[in-house]
Order: sequence, then C-alpha cells, then structure tokens
Amino acid sequence: MAKVAVLGYGTVGSGVVEVLENNSALIAKRAGEALCVKYILDLRDFPGDPYADRVVHDISVILEDPEVSVVCETMGGNEPAFTFTKKALQAGKSVCTSNKELVANHGAELIALAREHDCNYLFEASVGGGIPVIRPLCNALTAESVEEISGILNGTTNYILTKMEKEGMDFADALKQAQDAGYAEKNPEADVEGYDACRKIAILASLMTGKNVDYQEIYTEGISRIAPCDFAYARRLGKRIKLLATCRADAEGCRASVAPFLVGEESPLAGVNDVFNAVFVRGNMVGELMLYGKGAGKLPTASAVVADVVDCAKHAGKHIICLWENEKIQLADFDQSRSRFLVRVKKSGEAQAKELFGDFEKLTLEEALEEFAFVTEKMSEAEARQKFESLPEFVSRIRIRD
Ligand code: HSE
Repeated sequence: MAKVAVLGYGTVGSGVVEVLENNSALIAKRAGEALCVKYILDLRDFPGDPYADRVVHDISVILEDPEVSVVCETMGGNEPAFTFTKKALQAGKSVCTSNKELVANHGAELIALAREHDCNYLFEASVGGGIPVIRPLCNALTAESVEEISGILNGTTNYILTKMEKEGMDFADALKQAQDAGYAEKNPEADVEGYDACRKIAILASLMTGKNVDYQEIYTEGISRIAPCDFAYARRLGKRIKLLATCRADAEGCRASVAPFLVGEESPLAGVNDVFNAVFVRGNMVGELMLYGKGAGKLPTASAVVADVVDCAKHAGKHIICLWENEKIQLADFDQSRSRFLVRVKKSGEAQAKELFGDFEKLTLEEALEEFAFVTEKMSEAEARQKFESLPEFVSRIRIRD
C-alpha cells in the first residue's frame, strides 16, 4: 500500500482525498497497489471531518516518515510550497501538484531535483484542470515537433465571457458565480487579468520548446476591458470573444501571448463555453488536434492530481523523463506579431481613422450610436499601437485570430 500526504486541505486538496476515496478500488487496480492518505497538512483543524485525525501542522512529520512515498502539493503559491516540494523530492518522495505558479516559476529545477533523487515531479493538474494536457504533450505527442499550442486556459474568464455573451449577464455577477463554483483564484485578478492563463501557457511553451519560458516575458492582457457592445460587434462579424493563450514557433522564433481575441464561429475554439477549456495543438506530423474538458473545479482538477499519484506509484523508484531544461529561451519580439484588429472609435474620429487606416467598412450598433467600429488590415503590434496613439477618438481594440 502506498501512503500519500496531501499538502493543503482546500478546494483541490479535499478533492484529492475525495477522488482517492470514491474511486479507491479501481485506483488500486490501476496503480498495482492501494493508495491511502496518511497525512493532510494544513494550518487549520477540521473537527468533524472524516479525515480530521490525519491532519498535521508540521511538514517534518511527513518528510521524516519513510512510509510516505507520494506528496500532493495543493497549497498553491510559491512559498512555502517551493520549500516543501524541494524537501520532499530531496527525501525521495514524488510530488504531484496543481500549483501552476510554482511549476511556471521552478518547473525545470524541480524536475531536475526529482531526477537526481529517482522520483518524480508531476504537474498534470497545473494546466487545463481535468483535461489531460501535460501527459499527451510529453508522451502521445513526443514524436512531434510542436509548432503551436493555443488555448482557452482559464475557466473563470471563459465562464464570464460566456455568461456575458449568451445571457447578457454583467461582469461582476458572472465573476461571483465563478467564485461560488470554486473556479476562481483566491485573488480573481489573476484570472481576469490573464495572469493565470499566462503561467499555464508558459508551462506549455516550456514543454513545447524543452527550455524555460519566463512567464514574465509573455505579453498578457485580460478581459477587464471587454464591454457588452464588443459582443454585439463580434456577432456582426460572425465571431466570438475568447481569451486565448498562444505559443507559436516560426522562423523568427517562438512567440507567446495571452489576450482576448475575436474567434470565427467556425473555429473549434469558438464552441468552448462556460468553465470548459481547450488546448489546440499543431504538430509537424500529426497536424491539428484539440484537447477539451473542464478547466477548473474541485473534482476535475483533483482527478488530474490523482492520475499523477497513480503514475508515481507505478514508477516507484524510477524517474519519468520530461524534457524541460533549466535554460531560458528568448521569446521573439511580440511587437512584431501581426494581426487584424477590430477597432472602436468615437463618431467624430471617422475622417482621421480613414487617414490612418485607409478606407474601411463601418460597423454601427443601435445601442452605441456615439461610436463606430471597423476591421483593420493585418499589421504589426508596433504599427497598430502607433496608429491608435495618433487617434484621440480611439476607444478600444480587440485582435482577430486568423
Ligand atoms: N482559476 C483557474 C481557472 C483554476 O479559472 O481556470 C484552474 O487553474
């Protein structure tokens, strides 16, 4: 029987305990042995909880117990998760985590430490919640040179955008619902401003390139400036608005970004709604494929953590190779990325907008008579920004995914 410790008894941690208990018989068959939660580390006590007697407050109880072979780190944040993870790996205990912040910051280093100590640092739940993404990239797609990974990687923002678009719900109510459902981060700014999706695409980009992609160098824009009339313009163009996290490799290098995009209704990403996430992958041999499922929530995320625990049990004493070297990759200049843009301008700015952008077809809405919108030609970020800055009547812009 493998003994497991869970660090952090919050949404995901308690979900891990629930999944291990509810599916114990089939998990035991698949792992080759039963998996049993021996400790739960938390600052709090949980009187009345069936696992209350396993709660400890001191990490050394776990680190010093040779029976514990796998640790689930579901605390989130950098510290003390980083220190606890390093100590567990140094003690030869495998660590399975949902902590995207820690993986984005220290993934390569922790994988190397696990390799050194013949154990594993697995992080399936850190990207895409319950969708298997990391394992397919590292295993099923290992023969591919991956040229692009693009996706809807944040459940909270996708939920908000869907509610705003389909039900006309306002931003604050939709966010509240996402929080109540346990989808949002402790500080929902991390969801809304794109920081969470940024860390997730940094992890995927690191696996795509095999080197460290620094999430701080990824251009990141959230959904807080999306207004109700943006959805009306999008509809007029046959498009939806989605927060896309993208990493693309071409002759100039690898470009990564997180930003809202207008996505054509025919795109598979357009039909990804509510808390669902999707990861679109383009490989040089396999072509295009998409992984789809629940991107947040207690049990889907916990299921991904437990899948890693099973993998650790199956590979006890063996390191599973994962190519992510601790060498930083220089991303290509985002300013040179080229897109078309949907631009909103105050009514009085029409003549100047035409001078700057050339002739265009004007889009108007009955509910926004004081402005109009148009679609630009494809241009670089730098060129577009310079034009927007020269247009005092500029209201906003959204990139279009072509
Ligand atoms: N807050 C995250 C989301 C949770 O909404 O996607 C899963 O990482």
